[in-house]
Amino acid sequence: MITWGCQMNVYDSARMTDVLRPLGYAPVDDPTQADMIILNTCHIRDRAAEKVFSELGRLRLIKEERSTEGRKTVLAVAGCVAQAEGEQILKRAPFVDIVLGPQTYHRLPEMVAKAARAGGSVIDTDFPAEQKFDFLPDSEGPQTAGNVTAFLTVQEGCDKFCSFCVVPYTRGAEASRPVASVLAEARRMVASGVRELTLLGQNVNAYHGEGPDGGTWSLARLAYALADIPGLERIRYMTSHPRDMGDDLIAAHRDLPALMPFLHLPVQSGSDNILRAMNRGHTADEYRRLVDRLRAMRPDLALSSDFIVGHPGETDADFEETMRLIRDVGFALAYSFKYSIRPGTPAAGAPLQVAENVKDERLQALQALLREQQDAFNQSVVSLTAPVLFTGRGRKPGQMVGRSPWLQPVHVNGSDDLVGTIHPVLITERLSNSLAGNLVKECVPA
Ligand code: 5AD
Ligand code: SF4
Repeated sequence: MITWGCQMNVYDSARMTDVLRPLGYAPVDDPTQADMIILNTCHIRDRAAEKVFSELGRLRLIKEERSTEGRKTVLAVAGCVAQAEGEQILKRAPFVDIVLGPQTYHRLPEMVAKAARAGGSVIDTDFPAEQKFDFLPDSEGPQTAGNVTAFLTVQEGCDKFCSFCVVPYTRGAEASRPVASVLAEARRMVASGVRELTLLGQNVNAYHGEGPDGGTWSLARLAYALADIPGLERIRYMTSHPRDMGDDLIAAHRDLPALMPFLHLPVQSGSDNILRAMNRGHTADEYRRLVDRLRAMRPDLALSSDFIVGHPGETDADFEETMRLIRDVGFALAYSFKYSIRPGTPAAGAPLQVAENVKDERLQALQALLREQQDAFNQSVVSLTAPVLFTGRGRKPGQMVGRSPWLQPVHVNGSDDLVGTIHPVLITERLSNSLAGNLVKECVPA
């Protein structure tokens, strides 16, 4: 299994592994040892399709080499490039056996059987009327065994149609997994040792899952129910859209200590003109007010975001508005990108595309500011005592690593029995992308 792209793909790869397990497949690290190679692709980055075709060229050599040794290799392309390119993949890379979109993973065993029978290629990139959530078996736990932190997909797809984005075309309409299925999987994960769950969805806070009572549950309601699972200490969710940040979810940040004070809430731009052109459905000031409300509920809430520079029509003044928003809000972490054309999306055909050198300059200035803010944020926790959830060993002998509430990796000297437990740590030092600290002895009341 080769996985590119977002956490959703990481999760999907694990689920494909699950559905293939009954057929006798188990993951291997070395593709030359694999009877089946699945390339799980991502379409959001630039020249995504080209990267896939070049990787397929490499995998073809492996397939041919194995074939001379009399060993068969099933080659499958999954994920968003498979969804977007479909037939094109089989035209340009006829040695591929299976092409499947993100909505059809539950049919993978069927496709493997078909490919074996037919000896030809199988393609399945439908958006079936039935929800894939109803058909995927709930994972039995091996995927998370031994892990302290895990992802759990609760929502898929997006109806927002931002001008620049392929997701609504590749992942389809919003769909939410039923509450009972989410809770059952969460309980299994906790039983296998998971202490921190990140709920995943392209638009996770648009979650509207069918509840056991027949009603529709919001993400907030789901979070309250998850917080009641004994042993589940921490809950996170991503990615959220500012438009779907409901009052109940904002209040949950006040009421649920398990809801971690770190929120990925992409804003993309700080200019109202560009936000409008992007079809984001809110203004820059509405975003500022939303952040104020969240921080009023949870004063230690840290924010992360995505930004795009050079969206068609972005002027110097628009870009300055983005810089101003960043200064106003202050981000603990951010991902930033130069706008790049995705064929078939509204912005692709827009006039006033921004020149590449202008995009470069803007990205540099933006990233310098965001880096400054990230360093300042990490510095601000030095000399605090923070609860750290330990996840495993560090690189150096005798070193253990864990996560702060704000997702920073924290290193301490300690022993293996820390794994899976939360301990207070006095943060002593900021390293480039992590923190170092010392375990604090917990006070025993006299
Ligand atoms: N160009 C640049 N960045 C993009 N993103 C999505 N589509 C594009 C594009 N066409 C970025 C957005 C999104 C993140 C996952 O990727 O910032 O939030
Ligand atoms: Fe893409 Fe916009 Fe949907 Fe996010 S909200 S997945 S950027 S269309």
